[in-house]
Amino acid sequence: MKTIHLIAAARPNFMKIAPLYHELLKRDGINPVIVHTGQHYDLNMSDVFFKDFNLPEPRIHLGVGSGTHAEQTGNVMIAYEKVLIKEKPDLIVAAGDVNSTIAATLAAVKLGIKTAHLEAGLRSFDRTMPEEINRILTDSIADYLWTPSPDGDENLIKAGISKDKITLVGNIMIDSLEMLRSKIENLDICRKFGLNKGRYGLVTLHRPSNVDHPEILEKLCKCLLEISSRLPLIFPVHPRTSAQLMDTGCETILHNADNIHLADPLGYKDFMNLVMGSRLLITDSGGVQEETTYLGIPCLTLRSNTERPVTITEGTNILCNHGNLNKMVDNILEGNFKKGKKPNLWDGHTASRVADCIQELISQNLKLKNRN
Ligand code: UD1
Ligand code: UDP
Repeated sequence: MKTIHLIAAARPNFMKIAPLYHELLKRDGINPVIVHTGQHYDLNMSDVFFKDFNLPEPRIHLGVGSGTHAEQTGNVMIAYEKVLIKEKPDLIVAAGDVNSTIAATLAAVKLGIKTAHLEAGLRSFDRTMPEEINRILTDSIADYLWTPSPDGDENLIKAGISKDKITLVGNIMIDSLEMLRSKIENLDICRKFGLNKGRYGLVTLHRPSNVDHPEILEKLCKCLLEISSRLPLIFPVHPRTSAQLMDTGCETILHNADNIHLADPLGYKDFMNLVMGSRLLITDSGGVQEETTYLGIPCLTLRSNTERPVTITEGTNILCNHGNLNKMVDNILEGNFKKGKKPNLWDGHTASRVADCIQELISQNLKLKNRN
């Protein structure tokens, strides 16, 4: 029996490891184990996803919590190293680009334990983003690199990474969506806000570049107020953003606005039900750019770059800023927006392709054999 650790840490990780966990359970000779680092810990940033995705409570929980980048990364490494020494997994799979992704991978690599990076190769080419540093480092040390789209392969090859480490597997986020689609479609969450399907916009913001600078956050909130006079907005607020909205006094302004509905972070099913019923998304989330492209819903991304370029070249995403956001919303409301198409291999079968890769690696025992 081969033991495979799946690293769960922050909100975007849960929907990336859930389909793989369920797929690996079906495969002979594989024992998938979820390791929760504790990077996200609130009920609505963590526990709710275990329930939504029918995941067992993690047997291994590192409980690292919040901190500076160095504290969080270091604490995951220190705690996970102890687990790795005791449990000696055959492979660890870390997804995405959060601090726990690089921390878990680095701890394992140093012990000679094989590592795989799921969602490898993405690049914003913006090193002011903490996630970009995590992506570059994780890709440069992981043994197996599973990419969501061909740009990922190209970026890795340009970085000098050997082709035989790279496999284009597709986008695992889409598996999560398809796995729960019927349950999501049965909900009617916008009614709880007194709104009708297709007649509201959905907002998520949490990038430090947008929310950690009061002058930028204030400008964005002003834009949201203006937009809400034409389109009611639902805004489930990330905890980082919540703290900043409170500090700047923007929370009261948004709270008092007639057509802005602030909410706590939502569970996956409730959130995706709102996405499916929305006229447009205003976001800086990585995952939301992908989900809207898959669903064909206009996505206005408040960033100057994206590590997910296919959502622009093939999908329904465009980059904006507080200067042109209003105009972009008007274009959409007037019916002027690109249609987009689903990128190749965003088909709900990525977990199965990843599980095939893992079985193949197991069958070539040497490749999975630990160095010490
Ligand atoms: C992290 C990831 C980011 C990802 C985002 C998804 C890094 C560097 N950043 O950003 O890539 O897009 O998650 O949501 O890994 N907090 C709570 N409760 C929680 C979790 C966090 O209150 O359950 C608050 C704490 O005050 C914390 C702050 O949010 O200091 C930021 O959390 P952190 O995990 O450091 O970064 P995120 O902004 O969530
Ligand atoms: N999401 C959710 N509830 C919310 C906001 C987001 O379930 O209130 C989901 C959504 O599917 C999104 C995923 O969480 O794709 C990842 O979210 P986040 O924006 O936090 O992280 P990122 O993808 O930017 O790293």
